[in-house]
Amino acid sequence: MRRSLVIANWKMNGSVDFIDQWTNVFTTFSPVSTELAVCPPFVYIRYLQQKFLTSALDINVGAQDCSVHESGAFTGEVSAGMLADVKCPWVIVGHSERRQYHGETNEIVAAKAKIAIEHGLRPIVCVGETLEERESGRTSDVVIGQLNAVLDAIGPEALVTGAVAYEPVWAIGTGKTATPQQAQLVHAELRDSVESRDSQAASALRIIYGGSVKPSNAAELFACNDIDGGLVGGASLKAADFYAIAQAA
Ligand code: G3H
Repeated sequence: MRRSLVIANWKMNGSVDFIDQWTNVFTTFSPVSTELAVCPPFVYIRYLQQKFLTSALDINVGAQDCSVHESGAFTGEVSAGMLADVKCPWVIVGHSERRQYHGETNEIVAAKAKIAIEHGLRPIVCVGETLEERESGRTSDVVIGQLNAVLDAIGPEALVTGAVAYEPVWAIGTGKTATPQQAQLVHAELRDSVESRDSQAASALRIIYGGSVKPSNAAELFACNDIDGGLVGGASLKAADFYAIAQAA
């Protein structure tokens, strides 16, 4: 039995005032059985951690990215070791916005997952196809290729300490959600791919869905056999909506 996991990705949004308001609302909510994390921009990680100290919810803080490098002259980068140092357990790697705007290849994403694991972090490995890839019938090839690059680098057991997020690029921030059937099909293929390497890891691995998840569609997505929660962008900026999604998981 996999525990559901819902993660907020605030992307490049937020401020000290925003965090004060968000946590004032969120920390009044009762515990849910779902495991939760919020990934703010790097500069707010410590501040958000302090805010969560008073929450009764099982909620952690995560980062949206990490460097492939250990340390050194890499201006603007934040290392996996630094995230571990500030006790930030989760890190998103390979988000499609990193792939699209920062040229991250499968090899770079795999290297990020590897260095995250080496520092004891829990990587959330994002995979997903573009609209053009879906329409040309290449969804499986693309997402399995993205997953395999990471599996080759860290192996299935290490991946289970983190999670996989299936995020069809055409559904991110567009209001278009994959239907539960479309998402379930891809999640099952991803799990099958892990199964071919390690069946125990496949049944333990949490595969979460991202792409216009909101309170109104979360329950039907999370009801699917292989959808173990969500990676939530826009809707996570409202504390009440994020909590409603967490309750649905
Ligand atoms: O990381 C989150 C995803 O990119 C989904 O974003 O919920 O705004 O579509 P969205």
